Amino acid sequence: MEKKSQERERFSTGLAVFFATLSSAVGLGNIWKFPYLTGNYGGGAFLLIYFICIVLVALPVMISEMYIGRKTRKNPIGAIAAIKSRGPWKIIGYMGILSAFFILFFYSSVAGWVYSYIFKALSGTFANSSYKELDNIFNKTASSPVAPIIWQFVAIIVVASILVLGVKKGIERMTKVLMPVLLILIIICDIRALTLPGAMQGVAFIFKVDFSSITKEVILMALGLSFFKLSLGMGTIITYGSYFTSDNNMIATAGKVAVSDTIVSLLAGIAIFPAVFSFGMTPQQGPGLLFKTIPLVFSKVPFGGVLIVLFFVLSAIAATTAMLSMLEVVVTYFVEEKKVSRRKAVLLCSTIVLVIGTFVTMSQNGANPVSKIKPFGLSLFDFFDQASSNVLLPLGGLLIALFAGYVIDKKDMKTELSNYGELKNKKLIRIYTFLVRYITPVLLFIVFMSMIGVWG
Ligand code: PHE
Repeated sequence: MEKKSQERERFSTGLAVFFATLSSAVGLGNIWKFPYLTGNYGGGAFLLIYFICIVLVALPVMISEMYIGRKTRKNPIGAIAAIKSRGPWKIIGYMGILSAFFILFFYSSVAGWVYSYIFKALSGTFANSSYKELDNIFNKTASSPVAPIIWQFVAIIVVASILVLGVKKGIERMTKVLMPVLLILIIICDIRALTLPGAMQGVAFIFKVDFSSITKEVILMALGLSFFKLSLGMGTIITYGSYFTSDNNMIATAGKVAVSDTIVSLLAGIAIFPAVFSFGMTPQQGPGLLFKTIPLVFSKVPFGGVLIVLFFVLSAIAATTAMLSMLEVVVTYFVEEKKVSRRKAVLLCSTIVLVIGTFVTMSQNGANPVSKIKPFGLSLFDFFDQASSNVLLPLGGLLIALFAGYVIDKKDMKTELSNYGELKNKKLIRIYTFLVRYITPVLLFIVFMSMIGVWG
């Protein structure tokens, strides 16, 4: 048994590779974070910067991570060391572990909100609720003293159990079926939202670019989101790459994952913003945006009472598979590098997430003394969110791009990305190599410099 868990698994087909990677990418980032950041940071202009970040920064990092994982078939720390045992590069792996924990601390809290909304939807809490009532429901959900902590526990225990029971593969197979269903539900919402009175104002908000609203903060947020969205900069994709089949076309897979993930995010935005304007709200609702608008849209759809239950069930599943991929990074590290049994590693990591995650959830409750803890002036929730998305992931991405562009042997890279010459993708490899050496790291460096105020 033990031996078996030490053996490295492989995904069986190219399609399995695609769906597994997508199941990490698609999650709360698409339906929760993407819309609310787009709302907070100016709509179309934010979106434009986000697209640019995906193409020039995120995609090259994604291809690099896939390469590093598939080439070495190891966890991120082992993988980097296998390519270059000397030098500071191992820090990529350690930072990745820290990022995984930081994200899990607040992500599990939001996953808990989603779980609790399944039961609220089931009991008909949202039926005929006005925007004001939904606002209240959300505030209670996030900041009650006990309930959100219990839901967060549920979310973490589900993920830990899947890992301990070894049914992760089964879950991923299931997402192949469920993800399209989630997509169909979002499209139903889109159709309804687009036919609401005043819907076009919402569409204009997402797609009209007002260049004057592009600020340093907007750029940083969009950059951070592109990493968060595609699960980059912390070794998740290195870990998944280590399970890839040897004949996988990595550049194509990365492209397909990025495009699909962006489509899901955009469709979520199209379901939400027309409703925001139609119901007279402002787009700057913050983290509650999804929870305050989606019930309103479903209330106007035939069989909406049933569909909304399904929507939150599927969202909870998407959140769960994304969390699995984060926990996988830390668990594989403990199993392979520290020789801890898988069960112990899961127990240890989920306990850490439970304990610190509880504090993060408590920070949302103004009456709790924990809400007074404000590292860098941010609530614990915002601190872990921003420290991971805006600092650790892009920094990890910068190091990965430098590692791929300047440390890894160029010939090796070409051979591997073309599957030993089998793929006729010389041009794409050339574009990738150019981006990863000259564009990706330079852009990341500039953003960091401007963040610490060097270039104002
Ligand atoms: N990409 C996931 C989402 O959008 C979140 C995630 C980030 C998963 C980093 C793994 C690693 O929900």
